[in-house]
Amino acid sequence: MLLEIILIVFIFLLFFLLCFYFLTGSIKAFFTGAPPVPTPKKEIVAGLKEVEINPRDTFFDLGSGTGKVVLIADKMFRAKAVGIESSFFMYFFSKLNLFIKGSNGKIIRKNFFKASLEEADIIYIYGSMKLMKSLEKHLLDISGKRKIISYCFSFPNIKPIKKIKRPSGKFFLIYEI
Ligand SMILES: C[S@@+](CC[C@H](N)C(=O)[O-])C[C@H]1O[C@@H](n2cnc3c(N)ncnc32)[C@H](O)[C@@H]1O
Repeated sequence: MLLEIILIVFIFLLFFLLCFYFLTGSIKAFFTGAPPVPTPKKEIVAGLKEVEINPRDTFFDLGSGTGKVVLIADKMFRAKAVGIESSFFMYFFSKLNLFIKGSNGKIIRKNFFKASLEEADIIYIYGSMKLMKSLEKHLLDISGKRKIISYCFSFPNIKPIKKIKRPSGKFFLIYEI
């Protein structure tokens, strides 16, 4: 009887963990990265205006979630827009979202720490404090210079070239790394 109860609890936990994995992407990304909360559209438009994207720019959204930022970078700013997303669920959802809206944006399913970021001229990030710490180190190791725009979180050591306070109380930080 006890063994059966342990087995049922084990199966239930396994099922729960699998659901959790597919809904949030990877458990690692959830704890070390950021939860899947999208940047509001009004904020994205205002933020992207500040980095002066031009149509020749390659724009990356690290942790692209629903694909909203990629969609706006493509449709409104005509950039070559790419989203990198580790969560299977968000990857699938964003691909569908871009397809339905007829976007030329691209979504890659990958951990962005393992992706090649060299070709990015502009990088957008809405992460977490912990993620910004690891990302700072990572970006400093990449050759070339690019603009980084971060929503709500700062790098621990690098000074931004611009800070944009939003009426929402949130802010954007623009870096050149
Ligand atoms: C706060 S959401 C932001 C979504 C989108 N950038 C936006 O602003 O609307 C963060 C997203 O990053 C993803 N993520 C977190 N760590 C990641 C990693 N190392 N590689 C790829 N995606 C990651 C999460 O799955 C989540 O969808």
